[in-house]
Formats: sequence, C-alpha cells, structure tokens
Amino acid sequence: VPATDPVPLVSVDGRGARPLATGIGEVDRVLAGGLVPGSVTLLYGEPGVGKSTLLLQVLASVAETGARALLVSAEESAAQVRARAERLGEIPPDLFVVATADAGDAEAAVGAIEPALVVVDSVQTLSDPGAGSAPGAVSQVRSCAERLARLARARGPAVVLVGHVTKDGDLAGPRMLEHLVDTVLAFEGDRHHTLRLLRAVKHRFGTTGEVGLFEMADRGVRDIADPGPLLLGDRRAEVPGSAVAAIVEGRRSLVVEIQALVCAGAGGARRTAVGVDARRLATVAAVLESRAGISLAGLELFASVAGGLRANEPAADLPLALALASATTGLALPDDMVSLGEVGLAGEVRQVTGIDRRLAEAGRLGFRRALVPTSAPTGPADLELVRVASVAEAFELAVGEVRDRRHPVPPVRGGGTMPLCPTTASS
Ligand code: TYD
Ligand code: MG
Repeated sequence: VPATDPVPLVSVDGRGARPLATGIGEVDRVLAGGLVPGSVTLLYGEPGVGKSTLLLQVLASVAETGARALLVSAEESAAQVRARAERLGEIPPDLFVVATADAGDAEAAVGAIEPALVVVDSVQTLSDPGAGSAPGAVSQVRSCAERLARLARARGPAVVLVGHVTKDGDLAGPRMLEHLVDTVLAFEGDRHHTLRLLRAVKHRFGTTGEVGLFEMADRGVRDIADPGPLLLGDRRAEVPGSAVAAIVEGRRSLVVEIQALVCAGAGGARRTAVGVDARRLATVAAVLESRAGISLAGLELFASVAGGLRANEPAADLPLALALASATTGLALPDDMVSLGEVGLAGEVRQVTGIDRRLAEAGRLGFRRALVPTSAPTGPADLELVRVASVAEAFELAVGEVRDRRHPVPPVRGGGTMPLCPTTASS
C-alpha cells in the first residue's frame, strides 16, 4: 500500500476503489462489480479448466470499452494467444500481449502500455532472476507475485495472476499466495463437462458467497443465467434410480440429478461414487439396509451427480437414499419431486441449512413437491412440502402412488415385483 500522511478519514477520496467492470456478467457478480484498480486477484484452477480462455475474454471485454488491457503470457507464444483470441471473437485494438517469462519484462511492459488491467498467465511460469532459486520454486512464485502486487499498488492497474492447482487439491503453489493478494477466485469444473463455477474464496472488496456459472463452449466461456436446463435437461425421470437434489453453492442453489445404479455384478459389494462423497454413499446404503429394509447385501452400487457437479453436502443424503432405494426396487420416483435432508444413522431425516434457497430454486424450475425434514419452514406457495421423519417413510411416500397404480394390474409375467437389478435380469 502506498504510504500517506495521517489525514481525517472523511477527507479521503474513496473513489479510487471503484471497481472496473469486466463486462462479463457472472464475473462481475462474483467480484461485486468488477476488478478493483490497484488490487491483485489470484485465479486458480486445474489445468485445462479454462482459466486462460476466461481471462482472455475478460481482457478483450475490458479492451472493448477503450481501456487498455495487457496479457503477460508466460506459457504461450503471442501467436498462440492470437489463435485463441480469434476463436473467441473480434480482437479489440486495445488488447496487448507480451510473451515473456521474466518478471522484469512484465513490469517494463506494464510501464510502457499503462493498462487498466494486467493478466499474468501463469504466475508459476514467471520467473524473477533476482530471486535466486529456480523458476517454479515456491520462493520464485512468491517473489514474482510480490513484485506484481507492488506494481499494482503503485501504478494502479488491476492485476490478475493465474495459478495452476492439481487435481487432488494440492494448492501448495498458488494457495501460499492467498495472503499476498486481495482476492482469490477458484475456477472449477470437470474438464469432461461443460459447466464451470467461479467462486470467490477471498474478496477484500465484497462478500465471498457469490458463485458464477459458466458453460465452456466452442467459442469460449459463456455466462449461464439459468443452469436448470443444462443440469436437468437430459434427465429421464421414468428410469428408476433418478432423484433430484437441491444443493447449495455459495449463495445460490442448484437443482441437480442424483443417479444410482444397483447391480448384482461381478464387482461384489463395491461402491462407486462420482460427485458424491464415497463415505456418504456407504453410510446411506447402510442406513437403507438397516433402517428401511432395503437389502443391498452383496450388490454393487453406483451413485453419481449428473453434469459434473459435486453434491457432497448432507442435504443430498435423502435424494441419494431415494435414488438407491428406487434403483434397488425398480420403482421410479415422481418426476415433479425433489427431496432434501440429512440422513442420520437411525434412519431419521434431519434439518439442513439453506432450505429456503433450495426450495425456491426447485419451485422456480417447476417442481411441485418436496420431501423435507419435519422441522422445515414453509416453502414457496407453488411447492407442496411433504414432511418426512425417516428415510423409510420418505421412500414409501415417494413411490406409494406408483405402487398403488401397479397393484390392481397383475404383472404380465414374473412374480409381481420388479427385478432387483434390471441389467442382470434382462441378460
Ligand atoms: P484453457 O483456457 O487453455 O485452460 P487452462 O488455462 O485452465 O489450462 O482451456 C482449456 C480447454 O478449453 C481446452 O481443452 C480447450 C477448451 N476450449 C473450449 O472448449 N472452447 C474454447 O473456445 C477454447 C479457447 C478452449
Ligand atoms: Mg492456461
């Protein structure tokens, strides 16, 4: 921070802190308006998630407003950056690039161009020859980040540093920069899916609750105003094993499909979880077995969240349990029903946080019924709340009408119950 003489606070001009809107709606929402001049932001994510793409779009968007924007490209040549930019659209004349891995060159470029926004991609590939150690070493990364932070504070551009993290959440490199920077953004998503989340992990100029949603498309990253169609569009509600959960990401709720598949396959009692915590899957399966009379012994269980999202929170226990029970019994759940609640070891359905938000989003997307814990507050008017005390009760209520509809009509063949595992039964 530049030093000042002591002055009465009321006489200080606070306008310097007005954020520079990036023009990309979801980015500005997460940042509570935009990138603050003179501030340093760290954006981290796994390789391939789309950091360079998103930030090139941010640079172009800022440059389109007539402000200068500079990309310090330490990983890709200027020609490679140009090729990427062409894919993303028109290249504005005020978008500059300098390909260098030297922190000194980067500083010189900032001095020459005087941009309003500087993106350094990535901070790990930048080196500071003065710092002694090898490029990429912790002390190098820190030293480069410190130089850029000083530069931001002295000259006033908003600086964004890109940091790579590894899949297993090893954030050792960029995370050690957190205390050095004003804002930390995490860019997340499964490379094989199109959905991306931008999350403010630390934000000196606003709250950290906001989450931005994007879709990775052919021509770059696109804001998603309504994630509903993307997350639920391919759902086949009539297939047993599909349940709908309302999870919470930051301050917003996302309604997602949880799928389960149960097989008497060669895998024995193996459990496979994708996007669902493996321990929760094992616990919920044990509760179904012991408290709801649904036998899973010796069966292979699969559970996943569609769309590449994670549903690792207690509120997803009940839909996970219902998906498993539905897959096991072959009884599909009603397609207009969501459920939420933590499942306790006694089979009880417990209260969860953020119920209002979850129910509001489910109602907005057209769901008409919600299975909720008995203590849940009232929900939106168009959503009927069905209070349930236990997993067994929840499943009975959910599939009761399906069963009733089926009973009067004798099954064409077989013993009247659905095969335990449709895949093995049909082979
Ligand atoms: P990239 O921004 O290079 O990721 P990161 O900087 O985080 O390592 O983008 C990675 C992937 O995104 C790459 O596999 C190609 C894909 N992509 C698109 O799908 N659409 C696009 O318009 C662009 C430029 C890339
Ligand atoms: Mg990159």
